[in-house]
Amino acid sequence: MTSRRQHIANLDTASFRAIAALAYRESGLTLVEEKSSMIQSRLRHRLRDLGLADFPSYCALIESEEGSTERQHLISALTTNVSHFFREEHHFNTLKTEVDRCLPRLRAGGSMRIWSAGCSNGQEALSAAITLTEHVPDIANLDVRILGTDIDPEVVRFARQAVYPQRLLGGVSKGLLSKYFEQVEGPTAGAHFTARNDLKNMIRYNELNLLSRWPMKKKFDVILCRNVVIYFDLKTQEDLWPHFHATLASDGVLFLGHSERIADPAKFGFSCTGPTTYRPTTR
Ligand SMILES: C[S@@+](CC[C@H](N)C(=O)[O-])C[C@H]1O[C@@H](n2cnc3c(N)ncnc32)[C@H](O)[C@@H]1O
Repeated sequence: MTSRRQHIANLDTASFRAIAALAYRESGLTLVEEKSSMIQSRLRHRLRDLGLADFPSYCALIESEEGSTERQHLISALTTNVSHFFREEHHFNTLKTEVDRCLPRLRAGGSMRIWSAGCSNGQEALSAAITLTEHVPDIANLDVRILGTDIDPEVVRFARQAVYPQRLLGGVSKGLLSKYFEQVEGPTAGAHFTARNDLKNMIRYNELNLLSRWPMKKKFDVILCRNVVIYFDLKTQEDLWPHFHATLASDGVLFLGHSERIADPAKFGFSCTGPTTYRPTTR
């Protein structure tokens, strides 16, 4: 028997605007009208799963009180989760100098805290854990913790499981793959790998919307918020800088992605000390 695919009407302008307004309000994502066909294709499967024939019905659902679960699915569908191991490698080189800076304190029983904000599926946090372990082989005995957070529950679940199909391990050299990963059974066909337990034990993952209240109490020595604020407008970005400033240790460092920048770092108490690398100047 042939199954007939349900016909779904195209995304109309009013629905696009309603979805864009909700995405902005809930997550800071700025959706431009030129991307409406991409948004339509990302959301069609949601309508299909829900048995809805058109976008106005979908908007009625996400705007209703009962629509909270679907609002999460919507944000998951709209976020771009692309990441790579050792993406923008120069930041991982700076990370080595940061751990050298913290090492006397660590050896004296102090701590070092790193935050991957907008961590996607965990490749950034694991790249940091591998970098630190390569640089300081006994790091697992020191109080070094990496926090990975993301708004998208699906990527947080993936990051916690830390089972990567081979295609997501592109940035990992053969040497690092055999040293830090082991092959495991995966959920789909093909080779899958998971990271060594000492790396995984260094990292905790939580859901966190950067636009909501941040519950972390301790300051971070290193914050990586890379390729995240590019999806936000200037106002949302500028609302975030003071929070990062307040959450960063006075000698800490904030890394942004290659096409992101703090337009006026001095205004927010930062100075730019390297490529998309910022340090607090004032308290
Ligand atoms: C392109 S990925 C970047 C991943 C990683 N930082 C990197 O550079 O490879 C952007 C991530 O930001 C997350 N994100 C988008 N808006 C967010 C928000 N308001 N709060 C927290 N995370 C958000 C997305 O879910 C996505 O996983």
